[in-house]
Amino acid sequence: MPSQGRKPGKGLSKNKQKAIAREQERRQAVFNAFSQFYEQEYGPERWSTLMAAMHQPSRHCIMLNKYCTTPPDPEKLTALNLARLGFCSIPCFATTDAERFPHPSKDDQGMTDYYILDAGSVLATEALDIEPHDHVLDLCAAPGGKSVSVLQRLGRGGHLTVNELSADRRRRLRQVLDGYVPKDVLEDLVTVVGKDGTKYYQEPEQYDKVLLDAPCSSERHLLHDEKEFEQWSPKRTVHNATRQLALLKAAVHSVRVGGTVVYGTCSISSAENDKVISKFMRKGKIPVEVVKRTWPIGERTKYGWIVLPDKTDGWGPLYFATLKRTGVSKNDHDDSDEEEQEDIA
Ligand SMILES: C[S@@+](CC[C@H](N)C(=O)[O-])C[C@H]1O[C@@H](n2cnc3c(N)ncnc32)[C@H](O)[C@@H]1O
Repeated sequence: MPSQGRKPGKGLSKNKQKAIAREQERRQAVFNAFSQFYEQEYGPERWSTLMAAMHQPSRHCIMLNKYCTTPPDPEKLTALNLARLGFCSIPCFATTDAERFPHPSKDDQGMTDYYILDAGSVLATEALDIEPHDHVLDLCAAPGGKSVSVLQRLGRGGHLTVNELSADRRRRLRQVLDGYVPKDVLEDLVTVVGKDGTKYYQEPEQYDKVLLDAPCSSERHLLHDEKEFEQWSPKRTVHNATRQLALLKAAVHSVRVGGTVVYGTCSISSAENDKVISKFMRKGKIPVEVVKRTWPIGERTKYGWIVLPDKTDGWGPLYFATLKRTGVSKNDHDDSDEEEQEDIA
């Protein structure tokens, strides 16, 4: 449980004590429903190890930024016990000791030397197999860790469109981009837009690669945030799944025939992961095939791959599935509204 809250104590009025007790009961009820829901999904044994691992603080690595002219000294990284992660093609370093990353530094152009993120996130962008000249769309981009990761592999002739619906988060995204990519490169390489990703239909078949890092239940995050945890209910995952399917349709609509969409979430709910893919495939309006690959950390699911912290030394959760678009749309997107209302869990 995220927190036991306050214990009803002496010195408080009876009403206050009752209110605190009621709050604790409510919290316990949410926790029981949460545990039951995921125990059904993972089975009691796996759920108990997964739950214990998710209660641990999240694990991070540092991803070096190729646009910084003064990268961290390799000797300093070794002295800090930071070892290169062999499963990321972009230089990323982590430690199994308590994470004590030195504060990132800036070069004289103001470019930051590294970005701190979960290695599972880097893996999801590896699945895009970015070529330097690719035209890429990051449909749900803020705060921008995965955009920064994509930018490490883009080069001359390439382009990245970063889309984010929330104005506040878009502001943060711009700050991140400004801190990691020099102004002239940014002007050439990146376009920031603020559309509703579920309605991203004006640019059909534009992109070579589309990353959809969808808003999701983020259960590990919830377990570390008492207030947010209280909002959890099974309905939340159903609501998220509906939005995720709408976003996935737009993502596949935007990629060219032969191009790749990577769908990802940090949820452990199959309703937000494989079931979104299966529902999309069942509708069959835009032909895609699932690309199956084996990754050095994590485990296979029916359509994708999931990195779960109990089996990967603390990384994740991070689910991703890779879809290759194989043909043109069979229908216009106009009929999407009716489907978006459907319960897909
Ligand atoms: C999981 S976060 C993305 C994290 C980001 N890719 C990163 O690595 O830093 C999902 C983002 O999608 C945004 N979002 C939610 N609904 C959206 C929509 N309909 N269209 C575009 N963005 C949306 C949220 O505001 C949130 O910033």
